[in-house]
Amino acid sequence: MTIKSLIRTIPHYPKPGVQFRDITTLLKDPLGLKVTVDALVKRYADQRIDKVVGIESRGFMVGAPLAYQLGVGFVPVRKQGKLPAETLGHDYQLEYGSDRVEIHTDAITPGERVLLVDDLVATGGTALAAATLISKLGGTLVECACVIDLVSLGGRKRLETADIPLFALCEYEGD
Ligand code: PRP
Ligand code: MG
Repeated sequence: MTIKSLIRTIPHYPKPGVQFRDITTLLKDPLGLKVTVDALVKRYADQRIDKVVGIESRGFMVGAPLAYQLGVGFVPVRKQGKLPAETLGHDYQLEYGSDRVEIHTDAITPGERVLLVDDLVATGGTALAAATLISKLGGTLVECACVIDLVSLGGRKRLETADIPLFALCEYEGD
């Protein structure tokens, strides 16, 4: 069993020409879920991680069980207007329009070693925005970890240009 074999591809979703890489089929499989989380635990168990930050919403599905297994706290980065206490936000550009992610200002203690987690990196815009928030709160971003890297969309390059290493459990060369 490989992680990739349990990821479902849905053609032309959410719009014509896009191949949607769906991790729900991976996560509903007990072994798939275990192998995914265990692979990340193995990589980060000895890296002195203090907090896992997961990006709404699919990043929560991977980030929360990972934080639990690492024995550290979990922090959500959410889309605009969802977090109830004082937040710090960052706007970023999409192909059409813009988006905004937010984090609670007390979510990270300066100096903490933070692991950023999402299901997938495409253009890297979302991860970069989350990384900006972590760094503004004084966190040290150890790495960005994801299940899927959509290589052709250039996220890895973009993140590495910003000195953020990317670790992906699998890659897709097409979109
Ligand atoms: C998707 C995916 C990543 C992001 C990657 O989330 O889960 O978070 O896009 O794209 P990028 O690298 O080009 O920024 P989406 O915004 O669709 O929301 P969801 O996780 O709530 O489904
Ligand atoms: Mg997402």
